Amino acid sequence: MRNELIRGAFTGETEGTVSEEYRALIDECAEKKDLPDAQLLRLLDISEEADEAYLYAKAREVRERSYGKEVYLRGLIEFTNYCRNDCLYCGIRCSNAKADRYRLTGEEIAACADQGYDLGFRTAVLQGGEDMHFSDEEICSIVREIRAMHPDMAVTLSIGERSRQSYEKYFAAGAERYLLRHETADPVHYARLHPAHQTWETKKRCLQDLKDIGYQVGTGMMVGTPYQTRDCYLADFRFLQEIDPQMIGIGPFIPHSDTPFAGEAAGSVTETLHLISILRLFFPNALIPATTALGTKDPFGREKGVLAGANVVMPNLSPRGVRKKYLLYDGKICTGDEAAECRFCMERRIESVGYRVVVSRGDYRSSDSENQEQ
Ligand code: SAM
Ligand code: FES
Repeated sequence: MRNELIRGAFTGETEGTVSEEYRALIDECAEKKDLPDAQLLRLLDISEEADEAYLYAKAREVRERSYGKEVYLRGLIEFTNYCRNDCLYCGIRCSNAKADRYRLTGEEIAACADQGYDLGFRTAVLQGGEDMHFSDEEICSIVREIRAMHPDMAVTLSIGERSRQSYEKYFAAGAERYLLRHETADPVHYARLHPAHQTWETKKRCLQDLKDIGYQVGTGMMVGTPYQTRDCYLADFRFLQEIDPQMIGIGPFIPHSDTPFAGEAAGSVTETLHLISILRLFFPNALIPATTALGTKDPFGREKGVLAGANVVMPNLSPRGVRKKYLLYDGKICTGDEAAECRFCMERRIESVGYRVVVSRGDYRSSDSENQEQ
């Protein structure tokens, strides 16, 4: 797979020729940034190498029109693995008594961001479980400190479901972006992945609040979770169209041995790549990461993600001592590396497939802003 995708990306050579049906479907999707349900489902069925290659090439063409060959870096600071939630798929769920819990202090978080700045990161992503030990005031003061130290560094929060008032406070403190994956937009499927008190309605309400407040919002789903069907993906696409997020993060589900889904199959890399490409056609300007989960399932997963239309990577900036503890799923990569190693490893990986990591905040470019720049 690596060779086919990478060879195809450089030479345009693939086994066989693209079918007329898929060529027309992919072209239509790129032009309209949309497809009716039946055609979208048909696109999800893609399986022949030549058809896939055409899809990936079209996704690259679209992303290069918006973002050229640039790939944006986000420095991920996993600052707590305490979590009040009990998502059935997640290794840091509150019921996992085997998880070795930690939380960083405000000073440690600021030090990670500082180190990230020196390494050329212009976005710090503060991610954690839903740890209510961090009050709104504490979150705000960490955000303020990072913004004061480095005014040209964006701060992204990814700390789960909170009240609208809390989201407003973080925004006022200087957090401009928020990542909250919707996980699946099918309410019945959602209920099979979460305990009864964690509802689809709350997730939706949070995303709507974040959007209303003015955050650049990131959302997205896992690929290949138990009970997921193609109709769930259809619901995901329609939900994404409704929210119209600036960032869309997707990655394969990978089981964790101390969760109820321990014995379930992992999501597929190929399916994830297909979905990244189709998302790129639907959302030409979106910031789409090639995720760590993709790199965990496949040693060249992140490179393939970029070749399928992704334009963001998120190397780990967390202190080495805690990385193994932020174990959402088994086998997570980059848990033994220093921040600098991860940063430069990622740069080499991106360059190896013809793209270029840039030192930039990497803000969302709306079609309007493009027009203004011209
Ligand atoms: N608590 C915050 C939230 O809920 O948004 C941020 C942390 S949460 C652990 C980050 C993401 O990890 C989730 O949105 C989910 O998509 C992903 N994740 C959790 N368990 C996973 C698994 N077993 N395989 C793949 N991704 C997983
Ligand atoms: Fe972390 Fe390669 S990106 S070691």
